[in-house]
Amino acid sequence: MARILITSAIPYINGIKHLGNLVGSQLPADLYARYMRGRGHEVLFLCATDEHGTPAELAAAKAGKPVAEYCAEMWSVQKELSDGFRLSFDKFGRSSSPQNHALTQHFAGRLADAGLIEEVTEKQVYSNADGRFLPDRYIEGTCPNCGYDKARGDQCENCTKQLDPTDLIEPRSAVSGSTDLEVRETKHLYLKQRSLRGELSDWIDSKTDWPILTTSIAKKWLNDGDGLQDRGITRDLDWGIPVKKGDADWPGMEGKVFYVWFDAPIEYIACAKEWTDATGKPDADWERWWRTDKGADDVRYVQFMGKDNVPFHTLSFPATIIGSGEPWKLVDYIKSFNYLNYDGGQFSTSQGRGVFMDQALEILPADYWRWWLLSHAPENSDSEFTWENFQASVNKDLADVLGNFVSRVTKFCRSKFGEQVPSDGAWGDEENALIEKLQSGIAAYETQMEAIEVRKAANELRALWALGNEYLQGAAPWSVFKEDPERAAAQIRLALNLIRVYAVLSAPFIPDAAAKMLSSMNTLDTEWPGDVKSALTALPEGHAFTVPEVLFAKISDEEREDWQTKFAGVRT
Ligand code: MF3
Ligand code: ZN
Repeated sequence: MARILITSAIPYINGIKHLGNLVGSQLPADLYARYMRGRGHEVLFLCATDEHGTPAELAAAKAGKPVAEYCAEMWSVQKELSDGFRLSFDKFGRSSSPQNHALTQHFAGRLADAGLIEEVTEKQVYSNADGRFLPDRYIEGTCPNCGYDKARGDQCENCTKQLDPTDLIEPRSAVSGSTDLEVRETKHLYLKQRSLRGELSDWIDSKTDWPILTTSIAKKWLNDGDGLQDRGITRDLDWGIPVKKGDADWPGMEGKVFYVWFDAPIEYIACAKEWTDATGKPDADWERWWRTDKGADDVRYVQFMGKDNVPFHTLSFPATIIGSGEPWKLVDYIKSFNYLNYDGGQFSTSQGRGVFMDQALEILPADYWRWWLLSHAPENSDSEFTWENFQASVNKDLADVLGNFVSRVTKFCRSKFGEQVPSDGAWGDEENALIEKLQSGIAAYETQMEAIEVRKAANELRALWALGNEYLQGAAPWSVFKEDPERAAAQIRLALNLIRVYAVLSAPFIPDAAAKMLSSMNTLDTEWPGDVKSALTALPEGHAFTVPEVLFAKISDEEREDWQTKFAGVRT
């Protein structure tokens, strides 16, 4: 049994996430966590909300609420939705937690002691009307590169150029719209990432098994002309983690907070402490996952994220960890994703374009979405959600293949043998052939799951479901029954057992349907089918079961068209 630490990129607090966000980290992380638990490994699966930075402050201002109150409310909303999608986090924490405050200040102190922090006096835009500095998105203006007139202080959304607030032409405050701005001097802390370049580069080079998407982005940032820069890790904001050196004040940094991208990944660690603190467990219980001097050296740590997050996880966060000089666990494997597009365009939070997590659950249960999203995960390239494709996958894979198998087998058994596993009869060549195919299909499925090849794993699972249908079609117990009821009994006994096996195999993708299948098979036996032949005898002769409700309803053309229209516009 191995120990596996799994984190998903922590979603920004400002608003409900869309399906593109979901499939880019949380959902595949959950798939992997469920699979590894199912295989009997010890898993710690962590996620949290990312609560600091200008997006949170601006969203709170827009909602007319104090930012702390806004964050607390949005955390509950996100928590409820992640439960709705059956994301099986061991802890869904908050980057604003006291645990993260303490740990972030601790890391800053260690980095300062190691000589890796530099105090820099720089020029920032100050708004006289707002009485504050305007970092990042607090300032808008015209892009010097393309002329777009709503460029933000950190980046132009139109041409994607990274900007500094002082680059903008005709700048104005995003808070008040005021143009009464001036440039003032202010002091900030910089993390001297450049001096860790060699260590980071060696570490990345040692990760020969990482996906190409991850390594290529990491290397690009490491080697490009303006690649690994020293990085400002503080901001002139009210909301955030106050700048301190461990427990001690930091002279000259009063009233400043750490930059959101400094404290957010540290929350991966703090979240583990939130987890033990909440249940009154000792620190040793989380440290055995995170401290290599306290047991974490035999942990395998896997991170999930969208491609835009890769530089922060391959360079900045490792720089924090390595620079601290303390024995914290570094990531072993980074699984990153491309983008999911929506019906000919992009999903967009700011424009309200696409399907959002709350809306998705209002129209269909989680499993329908989980199956489509995971079986179309944007791994090797961007992928696209269309309603036609969604309808086709659900109707074919879930309703016609898996759902139909379960329903035919259980109903036929009820009508001919009653609601119990029938006795008598023996397996023959057809069954042995099926067992052989299942055995190799399961091995292929395991291989893809271990490799976190999400789409390929879904394909293998779909193929396993199809084997059951093909068998049933060939064996035709409904006709065999007329001549040889004992033979039909043996066929149905296998098929009922196969329902249990399917439940166990499918649970990582479609946990609710899997639970229904197990409960209709009246069993708590979730043992992984290592040896298929014996797994197919887990439900013994005479074992009672019940015919389940329809597992998956088909999506009609009318429903599809309705949803297509409903979600064509912009969310208000
Ligand atoms: N909130 C960020 C995003 O959605 C992800 C932060 S991941 C962490 O892109 F590592 F910083 F925590
Ligand atoms: Zn531009």
